[in-house]
Amino acid sequence: MTEITLDNDLVSHDIIVIGAGLAGLRAAIEIHDMGMNVAVISKVHPIRSHSGAAQGGINASLGSDDSWEAHAFDTIKGSDYLADQDTVEVLCKEAPERVIEMENWGCNFSRRENGRVAQRPFGGAGFPRTCFAGDRTGHNLLHTLYEQVIKRNIRIYSEWFVTKLLVGKGRCLGCVAMNMADSKIVAFRSEATILATGGYGRIYQRSTNAIINRGHGISLAYNAGVPLEDMEFVQFHPTTLFGTNILITEGARGEGGYLLNKDNERFMERYAKDTMELAPRDIVARAIQKEVDEGRGFPGGFVHLDLRHLGKDRIDKRLAGIRQISVDFAGIDPVKKPIPVQPGQHYSMGGVSSDINGRTPMTGLYAIGECACISVHGANRLGGNSLLDTVVFGRRAGAAAVEHVRLSGREDEDVSLDVSGKMKRDEEKEIGDLMTGEGESFATIRDELQSVMQQYAGIFRNRQGLEHALEEISKLKKRASKLKVKSRVKVFNLELMNALELKGMLELGHVIIMGALAREESRGAHYRTDHLERDDENWLKHTLAYKDEEPRLEYKAVNIGMFQPQKREY
Ligand code: FUM
Repeated sequence: MTEITLDNDLVSHDIIVIGAGLAGLRAAIEIHDMGMNVAVISKVHPIRSHSGAAQGGINASLGSDDSWEAHAFDTIKGSDYLADQDTVEVLCKEAPERVIEMENWGCNFSRRENGRVAQRPFGGAGFPRTCFAGDRTGHNLLHTLYEQVIKRNIRIYSEWFVTKLLVGKGRCLGCVAMNMADSKIVAFRSEATILATGGYGRIYQRSTNAIINRGHGISLAYNAGVPLEDMEFVQFHPTTLFGTNILITEGARGEGGYLLNKDNERFMERYAKDTMELAPRDIVARAIQKEVDEGRGFPGGFVHLDLRHLGKDRIDKRLAGIRQISVDFAGIDPVKKPIPVQPGQHYSMGGVSSDINGRTPMTGLYAIGECACISVHGANRLGGNSLLDTVVFGRRAGAAAVEHVRLSGREDEDVSLDVSGKMKRDEEKEIGDLMTGEGESFATIRDELQSVMQQYAGIFRNRQGLEHALEEISKLKKRASKLKVKSRVKVFNLELMNALELKGMLELGHVIIMGALAREESRGAHYRTDHLERDDENWLKHTLAYKDEEPRLEYKAVNIGMFQPQKREY
């Protein structure tokens, strides 16, 4: 089918992808190549997507002395046995093919002397299997996929902001979106819709995430009745630049960087004596925070990442971006001085519940990449597995969506038109109300939310803190129900978009806190100081959160395959 523009207010494509990062672009390429009409909607230009900020690399067992089974074992152990093992198997088996595909499409991976793709060690990996392009891997991958999208002439609605999913007869029929350039609202009809909108890092105060990462796509699904899975598992990256929390790649430790406390001690020996700085992120982040909390950090709350022994040549070749970031944002040249680092929110293991092909429980709706919980990362993701996740499950979801459209037939046009027309009018009214009258602005509420999340739902959690956070979130939600947008401009009304996103951010915070409070154990990134041990008997299960006045929690079994849960030691 070709693209149909029914009239100015209703646009129609076979399949719509929301989000233009790596997962979204990879899905769109697959759909196009399978012969269907696809469009991508994104609130930013594709190459400004957050995938471009990924630094350290993408995992694949390329070497003859490595194997997909070894990669799977590391991933499952890293996940603290919460990952579904069937999805991990797919991730690790398909990794070499996807990475070679990216190389064939022109991604300029760093090379070994013999010309083969170079691989570096990363946290929690028993083998150096992280392929990289210097320390700008996401940037290179994103440009590579964007070129492929341009080559195929795939339609992109750039700087369009999706406000709702269209739902009729329990099926996703597309979405409503606003053109940010003139605030015009349009209904987009599709037979399948793929969410690829990234994470929610900005609900925390300290995050490596771009300011666009507010979990909006996740809240679109949640508000439409789709469950969110394992949201209590929030990843804190151990090394973010003190002051701005810009990512300082794990690749820096992969290349041989040390972590030192104020007494010049390589303190990781206390926490992971075999793997030291290359223990998984949950363990290294906790170790740094503990050093700081117990007075062995530097004033203000950071430790040092020392690269000096690597020498200028290696730093310039492998970590040029890190050197530039340190100089530009901290005035420190890592060739001469250690980098001040502290943990910061980095990744959302949880997200929209979806299966091995990205299908959510709602017919016609798919979710991939960081906005999804497929669940391949379980309670803690290994570095280098998220770029991989985007291209593996992006491709699979694209293919599955095409099959779905071919097999299930098209929704009755009258139903679609009714739903689209009504929801578009509802959206216009809701946005109109937000812009009429006086009320509190989004900014203070968002600041308070970030502070509550950082303080009570961070690296260390306990019942008392989480209960307090729950009360605070309820108060913030009440205030947000009356918030107003002062700016009346139609052209790029960022205040309006901030206000719309804040409501979703509050919902996600609420779900994270509820899940964390209920889960009385410590597993991966979820660490309860009042329940220190992992409890497989009661908690080897996924959390599902459904929208209700308070999020309603249900649980489902973890898919265990080749690897029985064991004590996790590094
Ligand atoms: O440290 C990093 O370069 C981040 C990699 C990742 O999140 O996979």
